[in-house]
Amino acid sequence: MRTYLKCCFMFLSMGWLAVSCQQDTTVTKPVLEKPSLKNSFKKDFLMGAAVNDGHINGTDTSSLKIIEREFNTITPENIMKWMYLHPQPDSFYFDMADKYVALGKKHDMHIVGHTLLWHSQIAPWMDEIKDPVEMAKQIENHINTIAGRYKGKIHTWDVLNEALNEDGSYRTSNFYNVMGESYIELAFRLAAAADPDAKLVYNDYNLWKPEKREGVIRLVKNLQSKGIKIDGIGMQAHYSLVGPEISDIENSIIAYAKLGMEVSMTELDVTALPNPWDLDGAAVKQNYEEYEGDPVMNPYPNGFPDSMQVKMADRYEDLFQLYLKYEKNIDRITFWGVSNGQSWLNGWPIKGRTNYPLFFNRKNKPQVAYERVMQLKEKKSKLEEAGK
Ligand code: GLA
Repeated sequence: MRTYLKCCFMFLSMGWLAVSCQQDTTVTKPVLEKPSLKNSFKKDFLMGAAVNDGHINGTDTSSLKIIEREFNTITPENIMKWMYLHPQPDSFYFDMADKYVALGKKHDMHIVGHTLLWHSQIAPWMDEIKDPVEMAKQIENHINTIAGRYKGKIHTWDVLNEALNEDGSYRTSNFYNVMGESYIELAFRLAAAADPDAKLVYNDYNLWKPEKREGVIRLVKNLQSKGIKIDGIGMQAHYSLVGPEISDIENSIIAYAKLGMEVSMTELDVTALPNPWDLDGAAVKQNYEEYEGDPVMNPYPNGFPDSMQVKMADRYEDLFQLYLKYEKNIDRITFWGVSNGQSWLNGWPIKGRTNYPLFFNRKNKPQVAYERVMQLKEKKSKLEEAGK
């Protein structure tokens, strides 16, 4: 006669979590779930990374292992930007975007499209358009073709990127100069019609700034007052070790959630290096190229000292404390890249530096910050289990 056992194991010493399993006496294998960002935070939010050509083409197998193990959502770092996807009025280049979507599908990930409209990395022919009717026609073709092709496959669209100035006013991009703010409504209307099930997001940097926050509120309320669908706000979250203040980020999360928006951290990274605008009192050079090769601006070319690892871990712990506090309002946390060696912050705003902004080092090993954030989550889960 077969006897059935119900079991629930916690392999804490191994750091492995076993979920409940039903077994008979002949089957002894428990179902194990390895700790990873996506598993540990799965009740809180999606965890993701921006992926580059090597990931999408499958050539960077080492990073792909990290992506598969740690993340359940991806964003294309560059390949869906207008200049690559739609380089000429009548030609679209879908090769890489198709591969990107296939990668996400293969691993059952939440797939983000980045980005439908952005003034930067746009095809030069779009910047030459000065007639509003012609511009609307081109935006329509762009959004209908792309969002239509990936209908039901891309789950979230960054419909519009960086349409605001730092004071919250509208950026005077060519879109705005030619069409006024009507281009924003048009973009969201078209995206909603092309794929009614996709989540539609406004994405920007410095969205913790009170003045810029007011700009976002105005933009969202304007769309809502016209019955136009917008689902979320993407806070890019390109931060430093000291700024912005957690309270500023918190106030923005609260304000956006109050509008009914899901909030996401869409491009998270924390620079470990000084930047020209941090040089308090010192003359900031006219051109950032003048800082290239300056050892003061590139203090850790041969490795990240332990003391700095701790500072980085402290900063990430503070950020994730906040994110966990608002997990009900936060949909997704996406890092802008997988490992430090591939981060855009090695080349911006000063070329040729060695930065340490992400969770995985140049050998794809987790940094102290990763361990700390995982410990934070474990501590919180234990407190919750104990009913505290
Ligand atoms: C912005 C854009 C991203 C990317 C980063 C830098 O944040 O939204 O697509 O270009 O700048 O890599």
